[in-house]
This record gives sequence, structure tokens and C-alpha cells, in this order.
Amino acid sequence: MSEKELRKRILCIGAGYVGGPTMAMIAAKCPQHEVTIVDINAERIAAWQTDELPIFEPGLLEVVKQVRDKNLFFSTDIDENIKKADIIFVSVNTPTKTYGEGAGKAADLQFWEKTARNIINAAESDKIIIEKSTLPVRTADAMERILSVNTKGLHFDILSNPEFLAEGSAIKDLEDPDRVLIGSRETESGLKARNEIVDIYANWIPRDKILTSNLWSAELSKLVANAFLAQRISSINSISALCEKTEANVKEVANAIGTDSRISSKFLNASVGFGGSCFKKDILNLVYICESYGLHEVAEYWEQVVSINDYQEKRFVKNMISLMFNTVSGKNIALFGFAFKANTGDTRESPAIYVARHLLNEHANLSITDPKALENAKADLKEHSSSICFTEDPYEAAKNAHAIAILTEWDTYKDLDYEKIFDSMEKPAFIFDGRDILDHEKLFKIGFNVSAIGKPQMKHF
Ligand code: UDX
Ligand code: UDX
Repeated sequence: MSEKELRKRILCIGAGYVGGPTMAMIAAKCPQHEVTIVDINAERIAAWQTDELPIFEPGLLEVVKQVRDKNLFFSTDIDENIKKADIIFVSVNTPTKTYGEGAGKAADLQFWEKTARNIINAAESDKIIIEKSTLPVRTADAMERILSVNTKGLHFDILSNPEFLAEGSAIKDLEDPDRVLIGSRETESGLKARNEIVDIYANWIPRDKILTSNLWSAELSKLVANAFLAQRISSINSISALCEKTEANVKEVANAIGTDSRISSKFLNASVGFGGSCFKKDILNLVYICESYGLHEVAEYWEQVVSINDYQEKRFVKNMISLMFNTVSGKNIALFGFAFKANTGDTRESPAIYVARHLLNEHANLSITDPKALENAKADLKEHSSSICFTEDPYEAAKNAHAIAILTEWDTYKDLDYEKIFDSMEKPAFIFDGRDILDHEKLFKIGFNVSAIGKPQMKHF
């Protein structure tokens, strides 16, 4: 085969957290293919072409710079690029529905369906369409129906290739994933399309890590993987509440159970709660699907994972208020971290949003610090901007504060000069560690009253 025949034109619709990094990695690992990313958001596309990328992800800029304008291109011309593409990844967002049937739980598939219709209108040749967005199981069925009614006689193979990358470690996860999953119809044409996608990933991923399955298993596996991960966090968080009542220490418990290789030590960090764009959305979506099949007990079981997470966020703030003599009105509280986890500027579903809003409703004054997420924090709390001070400097945030709450596990918070911070604060000074990352004994000796998730409180009064 000539080089030209081997060259695939790969298109990705949706230049977000998933589409951007994934396509940059494919372009970097497959110089023989041409990769284009399109988006309806012109501002986003423009930002991808500068050194101020629209998302912060360690190592991403380096990869993008290596391939940009060589075999990675960004464009807003969706139709023209659909026309040219052999393979189309779709990673438009699939948020939780906010209206009508299934509101609050089901996935809103309007962007997906609109994209499918765009594809029919613009396409002039057969194509492989890949679901990269997380979608309810059997979405491909609906997509196949929409795409098969084209009057041009075109054939589209729909595949599911869910993305398992985590924010903050996206580049590492893409470069060396635990596995890649590709689901397809098990027809001759479905299997051929599946092999084409396997061959793309095989440019850098060992073939034994490229799993293949039927379409429905691939779609469902993505929801189930996120549900299981979130379930571990809710499990340890539920135990953190019990630890606080019994003087057990949740870190010691996590360590003790985590050394059992059947349980494993990962994802056992108790916290103020899980956030991020995926966990809650995907579990609620799973719950909705179970309900729609009449599996009410299964739905209830998974819904508990979200309920415990809500409970954990509420518990954290309630504890803050109760320890600070049942009122935070007029008090200054410094929030250390606003991102939903460290190494990202993303604040979607961050527990910090709940904590901040609740404290503001109790008439506290907030100062919020975060190395990467302040712009998003400002947007999340825009209705309260007059009672909040935003600063990148944690020392500035803590000045004259009555309390500090650690809400994101940024490494930099571990190494601050807490004596200096203590001296600059109102007394009695409180520290609430929502991520269990600080040296609590040391803080107590400095003079702080310390309350950490899943540990006995340490008070000087
Ligand atoms: C999204 C979903 O949230 C997730 O479920 C899925 O697994 C992958 O896609 P993410 O990349 O984090 O994840 O979303 P986001 O950063 O919002 O990016 C989606 C992009 O699609 C946005 O840039 C948006 O402008 C674009 N988009 C949306 C389109 O180009 N066309 C549309 O019709 C709708
Ligand atoms: C998650 C999945 O890990 C990833 O595979 C999927 O593709 C998308 O959803 P992400 O949301 O980026 O990725 O981050 P993740 O590292 O999973 O953390 C999610 C939330 O759980 C964060 O708020 C994090 O702080 C919290 N968490 C994680 C804990 O509270 N405790 C833990 O032990 C681990």
C-alpha cells in the first residue's frame, strides 16, 4: 500500500478535556496520520493554537507544540472536515439533563444527536464514527438508526472507544494506559472498522492492552469503571464518619485494608468528597438506565454512592460551623484549593463549590486561593463576588482568617510555613483538612485547632 493510502484523516468533534489531549497524543504517536480537531466554540479553537491552551494539563503543551501544524490541526469548519475525514471521534459533552424526562439524572444527548445529523449532512463517503464521549449503554443503537437513514447510500460503522484518562495525569494516562477499549458490532464491516482503530493505538500501545468487545459492553464498561472508582471513595468516606466517632484513624484503616492485594491501596483517600465532570454524572446516568429497565434495587444501590458523597460535603461544612462555636457569620475563612483535584484548573462539580456556597450563606467572608483554578472559581461564584477575595498567595489568603479549609490536595499546601500562617491569623485559629494531607500533630503543636476527615479532633479548648 502506498503511504497516501495508509494515511488516515482522523477528525475529532469536541476540543475539550477529552478530545484535545487524546488527539494530540494520537497525532504525536502516529505521524503518518493527519489529525484535525473541530469545535463549535471558536474561542476554544483559537486558544488551542496558542501557548495558552484552553485547559491546563501537565505536559500537554509540549505534546501539542510537537505536532501542531505538522499533523495536528484545529478548525471551526466542521462540515468541510467531516467531508474529508475517514474516521471521526465524537467527544462533545454529554451533561446531565436539566429539563424534561430524566432531568437531574439522564444524559443530555442533544449535542451528540446534532453532531450525528451534521455528519449525515456533510458526509460524501463512508466513515467510521467513534463514540469517545461517555454515553448511556445502547446509544450507538440510536446513532446507527439516525445515521442509516441518509439518502446518499453511505455506510457508517459506529464504534465505542471510551476514554479512561484522569485529569491532571492525562498525558501519562494516554501514553501508557492500563488498557484501551474498543467496542464494535461483530459484523464483517464492524470488525474491520474495529481493527482499523486497534491499528492506530497499536502504534504505541502493546496489543495485549488493547481490549475489544461488543458495542454495548464497551459503552457500559465506561459507566461501570467510573461507578466503581467513585464507590471506593464513598466507601472510605462513609468509614471516615465512623472513625471520627470512634477515635479510629481513617488513614490507618485505609492502609490496613489496602495492603490486602484483593482490595488494593488505590482510591482509598478519604476526602471532603469526589468532584469532577464524570463521577456524579455517570453514576446518575447509570441509575437512570437501571430505572428505565425496571431494575429499581440496582438503581438504588448505585444512587447511594452519590448520596454518601453529598453527605460527606455537608458533614464537612457542618463540622466547621459547629467547631467554630456554631457561627461563621462575619468570620474570615480561607479556602486552600478550589479545583476538584490537584494538578488541574478544572472546578466542575468540585466539592469546594458546595463548601464555599454554604459558608457564604452563613455570612462568612471567604478568601480563596488556588494555583490554577481561580478563574473558574470566580465564574462558579460570580453571584457572591463582593464577599470573596481571590488570591494566588496562600499566605495572603490566610491573613486575619479565623479558619483555613484544605479543599484540594495541592502539594504546595504541605510545605507552607504554618507558623507564619498561624501568627497572621485570628485566634483561636482552626484548620480543617478536607484532604488529610497535612501534618496534624505539628499543626496542633503550633497552636491550631485541627479537624481532619476521619481523625479525632485536636482542640486547645
Ligand atoms: C466531554 C463529556 O463531558 C464526557 O462525558 C465525555 O466523556 C467526553 O466529552 P470533556 O471533554 O471534559 O468531556 O467536555 P468539554 O471540555 O465540555 O468538551 C466538549 C467540547 O465539545 C466543548 O469544547 C464544546 O464546545 C464542544 N461541542 C459541544 C461541539 O463542538 N459541538 C457541540 O454540538 C457541542
Ligand atoms: C475520573 C476517572 O478516574 C477517569 O478514569 C475517567 O476517565 C474520568 O473520571 P477524573 O474525574 O479526572 O477521572 O479524576 P479522578 O482522579 O478519578 O478523581 C475524581 C475525584 O475523586 C476527585 O475529586 C478526587 O479528588 C477524588 N478522589 C480520588 C478522592 O476523594 N479520593 C481518592 O482516593 C481518589
